[in-house]
Amino acid sequence: METNQQEPIKRSEFLRSLGLSSAALMAFYCMGTLTSCSKGSDDPDPTPTPTGKVDFTIDLNSSTYADLKDATKKFVYKDDVLIAQIKNGTYVALAKICTHEGNLVTYRPTVDNFYCPNHGSEYDSTGKVTVPVVANQASLKKYSTTLTGTSLRVFEA
Ligand code: FES
Repeated sequence: METNQQEPIKRSEFLRSLGLSSAALMAFYCMGTLTSCSKGSDDPDPTPTPTGKVDFTIDLNSSTYADLKDATKKFVYKDDVLIAQIKNGTYVALAKICTHEGNLVTYRPTVDNFYCPNHGSEYDSTGKVTVPVVANQASLKKYSTTLTGTSLRVFEA
């Protein structure tokens, strides 16, 4: 008795029936979902998750942070944080990513504010948006700072 049911065919048999070589078959396998071609441990993660709270200390005398003493800049980046020495001499640490579309925020010593050159958002030293470019634009996260000698600790309270 003959049935209309067809035997399921394995993917490899199907691909071989197309006349593909072993190398081409491996390429197909690697493009698929087989675990034998899974990512290695040192492949970069395209969406890394934050590893923890911000808590680091910088040496203000280090040449790495010399821009903090440059009168035309007065700010540096460390990890995801912008650190600035504002007009009154205190150090302020804010998230460095603009809350509009993610551009890098800078500090402008001439007008003593934080500015995103991409579309012109401005923030004060608390991270509050003073010139938004969209309604309900979020503030920049502010971090705590403590200065001990020439060591500046930046941390989440
Ligand atoms: S990305 Fe900063 S103002 Fe648009």
